[in-house]
Amino acid sequence: MTRRALVTGATSGIGNSFARTLAAHGHDLVIVARTTDRLEQVAADLRAKHHVGVEVITADLSTSAGMDTVATRLTDTSHPIELLVNNAGSSMAGWFGTTDIADEDSQLDLLVRAPMHLMDAAIKAMAGRGGGKIINVASVAAFTPRGAYSAHKAWLVNLSRWADLHYDDVNITVQALCPGFVRTEFHQRGQMDISGVPRWMWLKPDYVVKKSLQDLEKDKALSVPSVRYKVLATLAQYMPKPLVSRMAKRGR
Ligand SMILES: NC(=O)c1ccc[n+]([C@@H]2O[C@H](COP(=O)([O-])OP(=O)(O)OC[C@H]3O[C@@H](n4cnc5c(N)ncnc54)[C@H](OP(=O)(O)O)[C@@H]3O)[C@@H](O)[C@H]2O)c1
Repeated sequence: MTRRALVTGATSGIGNSFARTLAAHGHDLVIVARTTDRLEQVAADLRAKHHVGVEVITADLSTSAGMDTVATRLTDTSHPIELLVNNAGSSMAGWFGTTDIADEDSQLDLLVRAPMHLMDAAIKAMAGRGGGKIINVASVAAFTPRGAYSAHKAWLVNLSRWADLHYDDVNITVQALCPGFVRTEFHQRGQMDISGVPRWMWLKPDYVVKKSLQDLEKDKALSVPSVRYKVLATLAQYMPKPLVSRMAKRGR
């Protein structure tokens, strides 16, 4: 049976690496982002290189219309999606309380409402046909008090861990992927100051994706790529919160 994956935010960074890696393993793809010409370019490259089918959906996942379009595709029973990668995301400079609240709403919609809507659609479709897999791209920021972004990612980790346990009996695996700093367009797009981040803290997108998919094969509900981030994530959960908060401020 054809294996088909839907990847949001597939034009750049971690999502692009998921799309390339899955295509290389023979998955047909549905790729989602806002920028049609970049999506078409990614699709053309993957079709030519890996001879897989690639559908393109242009959608802004910070809007209800965008979420509905992708959710509808997830429930299409004629071409079922066996793996959902909820990856699209962004950040912005400035701490909550100093930013424009309309921008905070938009971030909440993209980082919380969109994965919630897509996960809801995917679970309903997958439960009805014997199972499936979902990867929710969160962050190690989920384990630190670090403004609204880390709160959104903590929400995603928490729901993912619950869903993985709850839907185990209908053969649905849900993984929260929690990378540390990854070299992508993310920080530049969000105009974030990353000058304080030491070189050893940076990961490559292909490495993050390789680890996530290895962990998915083992049905791991939480994937924290690299030993150094596993250690940091564990420490962050047990160290005094004021200390974690001071350390987490670096890199913005
Ligand atoms: N980079 C890191 O250090 C890091 C660390 C931990 C977790 N993460 C998480 O990893 C995920 C991917 O980030 P990345 O680092 O790969 O960033 P990236 O290189 O900036 O890629 C973001 C992707 O999401 C898409 N996107 C952004 N806003 C969107 C919207 N409103 N609707 C639909 N698509 C949208 C972008 O395409 P368009 O602009 O064309 O829409 C692009 O394909 C995010 O959820 C992020 O929070 C990143």
